[in-house]
Amino acid sequence: MKKIFLIYCLLFSYAIANAQSSTSESTRLDLIPYPQQLQIGDGQFVFNEHTQIVFDQNNAALKNTALYLQHFLQEATHLPFTFSPKIAPETNFIYLGVAKQIGGNYPDKEHLASETYQLIIKKNSISITGNSIAGVFYGFQTIRQLLPTAIENKGLVKSLNAWTLPCLNIFDYPKFTWRGLNLDCCRHFMDKAFILHYLDVLAYYKMNKFHWHLTEDQAWRIEIKKYPKLTSVGAYRKEKEGNIYGGFYSQEDIKEVVAYAQKLNIEVIPEIELPGHSMAAIAAYPMLSCTKEQLAVATTWGVFKDIYCAGNDSTFYFLQDVLTEVFALFPSKYIHIGGDEAPKYRWENCNACKLRMQKEQLKDAHELQSYFIKRIEKFANANGKQIIGWDEILEGGLAPNATVQSWRGVEGAINAANSHHNAIVSPTSHCYFDYSLKSIDLAKVYSFNPIPAGILAENEKYILGGECNMWTEKAPQSLVDAKVFPRMLALSEVLWTSPVQRDFNAFNDKVIAHYPRLTALGVNYGLDKQAISFDIIPNENLAGFQVKLIPAQVDLKILYTTDQSLPKIGNPNAQHYQQPITISKSGILKAAIVQKDTNQLEVFSRQFDIHLAVAKPSTLKFAPSDNYAALGAKSINDGLVGSIDFHDGQWLGFQQNNFETVIDLGKNQNISGINAHFLQSMPSWIFYPEEVAYYYSKNGIDYFLIKVIKNEFPQNYSETVMQNFNLGGQKLQARYLKVIAKKVDKCPEWHEAAGSEAWLFVDEISVY
Ligand code: ACM
Ligand code: ZN
Repeated sequence: MKKIFLIYCLLFSYAIANAQSSTSESTRLDLIPYPQQLQIGDGQFVFNEHTQIVFDQNNAALKNTALYLQHFLQEATHLPFTFSPKIAPETNFIYLGVAKQIGGNYPDKEHLASETYQLIIKKNSISITGNSIAGVFYGFQTIRQLLPTAIENKGLVKSLNAWTLPCLNIFDYPKFTWRGLNLDCCRHFMDKAFILHYLDVLAYYKMNKFHWHLTEDQAWRIEIKKYPKLTSVGAYRKEKEGNIYGGFYSQEDIKEVVAYAQKLNIEVIPEIELPGHSMAAIAAYPMLSCTKEQLAVATTWGVFKDIYCAGNDSTFYFLQDVLTEVFALFPSKYIHIGGDEAPKYRWENCNACKLRMQKEQLKDAHELQSYFIKRIEKFANANGKQIIGWDEILEGGLAPNATVQSWRGVEGAINAANSHHNAIVSPTSHCYFDYSLKSIDLAKVYSFNPIPAGILAENEKYILGGECNMWTEKAPQSLVDAKVFPRMLALSEVLWTSPVQRDFNAFNDKVIAHYPRLTALGVNYGLDKQAISFDIIPNENLAGFQVKLIPAQVDLKILYTTDQSLPKIGNPNAQHYQQPITISKSGILKAAIVQKDTNQLEVFSRQFDIHLAVAKPSTLKFAPSDNYAALGAKSINDGLVGSIDFHDGQWLGFQQNNFETVIDLGKNQNISGINAHFLQSMPSWIFYPEEVAYYYSKNGIDYFLIKVIKNEFPQNYSETVMQNFNLGGQKLQARYLKVIAKKVDKCPEWHEAAGSEAWLFVDEISVY
């Protein structure tokens, strides 16, 4: 029996070794992620009532996979798919096998990964051979995608006339071993059925890590038997409207999720946040914080200064107890311990924490954070676990065996890899699926390179892969699918398929072909790019603009207004967009997609300000932050004013420096006023400037102060607001104007992020 299998495998290996990679347009199959090597043959395999599943039935793991596959095929096709230990004459069959190091002709020996598989479809046989069970599992996922979409209908469709598969050879393996999704189940609770649904879809796209964000300021979601108040208190919060919101996963729920994931080749990595993002735990057990005051579970979003006290050993005993229960529930060798966004204000003002710094000879609170993480790492390692932390764990000294998850750009990954630490790459620029499609659309995700420039070639191996992060402040369960899909498909291909096999246009076509599949999988996917894009071109005389509105899909209709009213059905002032709009005076253009019966429209707007300085040369003394750079100095006087959404790509954000610009009007002009436009969003650490100083010059060398305007707006105002620091009533003649806005240095004492660098946000300096 064994011998027959061996010969069979060898034959297939031979066929594959001779297969050419063939990926021309005409032969492209709608596979996501696309296989590393694919050759399409002639003819088809057709399922029939005699099709058997052939495998070594002494292999229990293989039997489980065979049962999974059989159940799937039976349900959809209503055909029997009986098991057989050997190939019977006259029947067609699906062979499943495990063979170490199949293929043998990898372009890169690093990737002799366990997830490798070989799928060979001939007219009378299908063979899936995996390096391990995971490979067999992925071979079957490929088959699912090759079959008609009806395969996903779970018996709802009676039967198709023919279930066919194209003859082909596939030899496939992942580029990265870490292909994950991080789902925040704290800001909003996701029920167990939803988690299981996510695991199904992850597996379908060959993703293999589910990073489960379980504790936060706003909720503690995992039952810990020794500390019942973590969930009885910490899992619930009182919303502004007075209602109680919450939920948690019992240990039984967790075991069910983990077992379900294991069948789908998915590792579940729990995240237990420390030392920050821990308000829910502190609300349950106030002795865990520096002040020991009774606090409520957080009800707003952001970063909070009340974190675990690093001075009291009891904090560590508590965390060790918690982790002991967590380790018992999750077989993963990893535990994610967060480590991000922990303001140091409380520690700097806590006697116990100060004493700890003295005793341990730590020079500042960053080193205290490093002490905290290292102490937790020691405990984790002693229990056979490895820690993962967000890139802040690099500050103050990295724990010896830690894996770094890089999120504030890719520097964390570069530093980790170059110091021989493993890294997971998930920067806000490409992998934050809570961000709107304005900043991260499908194409942007697809352009993600998990290996950032700056990593020495010999250290690339420390990049395990990447993850998308789905934070849920603004996304209850019902909205999560529309944020994650279709963007996750792009990440799936980036993390699996080698760059030489990737092409965005071909991928885009495949995504369109996958929409019915996503629907069949129960996914309420969203758009692949923002619903309306603006193409704005200044008129030649700079006295206005031509604005083109581009819908995400050609068949979507757009309504717009220019009178501040809402562009919705029933508003007589709303017009159907047909051709580019001419904007010749200052005002707001609002546009929305028309959907059949609903007036719940997302409104896209642009505020135009037609002034003397539009598109004149301008310079910045200090560069803005990379994350809020807009188009640099150009954005300061492009005639477009930033909106209340400070992620809108118009705003310039400064965290390290003041804002200073010079605008050259080209010649001396009569000037009656200057408006500098700022945004404040206290919970996001953004404050109006302390003061704005205006200067003018005729020669660009000698500048004269016109006026300093001081901020009078309260810093503790909790809403996001915008304000003009308006300098009116002038009678000046000048060619050059200089504007200096002095930023607030640090978040003030009363602020949740007290002591952290504050932000200054500016857009549009308008000159009249
Ligand atoms: C994070 O987004 N704070 C990791
Ligand atoms: Zn303390």
